[in-house]
Amino acid sequence: MIYSEILKKGSNFLKKKKIKNPYLDTELILSKVTNKKREEVLLNSNYKLKNKDITKFKNYLSRRCEKEPMAYILGYKHFWKSKFLTNKSVLIPRPDTELIVEETLNHLPLEKSKKILDVGTGSGCIIVSLLKERPKCSATAIDISKKAINVAKINAKLHQLENKINFVNMDIDKYKSYNYDLIVSNPPYINSIDLNRLDDDIKFHEPTLALSGGSDGFRDLKKVIIKSKKLLKIKGKLILEIGHRQKNQCSKILKENGYYINQITKDLSGKDRCIVSTKLQ
Ligand SMILES: C[S@@+](CC[C@H](N)C(=O)[O-])C[C@H]1O[C@@H](n2cnc3c(N)ncnc32)[C@H](O)[C@@H]1O
Repeated sequence: MIYSEILKKGSNFLKKKKIKNPYLDTELILSKVTNKKREEVLLNSNYKLKNKDITKFKNYLSRRCEKEPMAYILGYKHFWKSKFLTNKSVLIPRPDTELIVEETLNHLPLEKSKKILDVGTGSGCIIVSLLKERPKCSATAIDISKKAINVAKINAKLHQLENKINFVNMDIDKYKSYNYDLIVSNPPYINSIDLNRLDDDIKFHEPTLALSGGSDGFRDLKKVIIKSKKLLKIKGKLILEIGHRQKNQCSKILKENGYYINQITKDLSGKDRCIVSTKLQ
């Protein structure tokens, strides 16, 4: 079968199964199978697909029909300025999370060597992106999931940062290393009602451990805020990603714990997404 036929059949199949971007997904799957860029696949639409590759193509296509996210099927996702390995052990890096990178960079002068902690590192997308931009800084990345830490380590290696990030597989509650200049975290913050309303792609495929913030969504945000009080230096910064309806409650918890709120930033869709705060004493 030639590429154009397989693209037509594949996209029709995904369309019938009500997959959101049937054409794009089919093109990306064919480009993975043939190991060619998407443009190359499209420009060579009369090339023949080998039988063994037809089997692979069908296998990936049926995974997509089961609503498995493309980032897991392809095995990577672009975030900030780099490509990150992704598999089912980690949350897929989101464009919204690039805001925490942008805000953190605003508080990290290029020439300074600051000590950073990333709580709930997942794929390592935040800390790897930060260290690529601020090579003089040093970092620790912590995650309760051993499998996530393994993925983050691979990503650090892919970006030649394996010697600059110390990876710790631990619950943040148990972590005891102090004097950080800056703590960044995108903790799980979805409440149990919203968790049930998520798209099937997310709900059935991404790790619940990375999504669920307990019944009210604040379990881990609170944990990170309270623990960071101990781990930060005085005047150290805590930079958090939050859910878009968590601004007021989160600001309250931060103030109750002695932080000053520097700024709250909205994401591209106008939703409150990132809080920058300072530990006062
Ligand atoms: C929302 S994901 C964020 C992943 C990544 N930082 C990102 O922004 O894409 C939250 C991460 O926190 C980790 N996590 C959850 N509870 C934790 C805890 N108590 N201590 C450390 N890590 C935790 C999860 O395993 C998950 O990888």
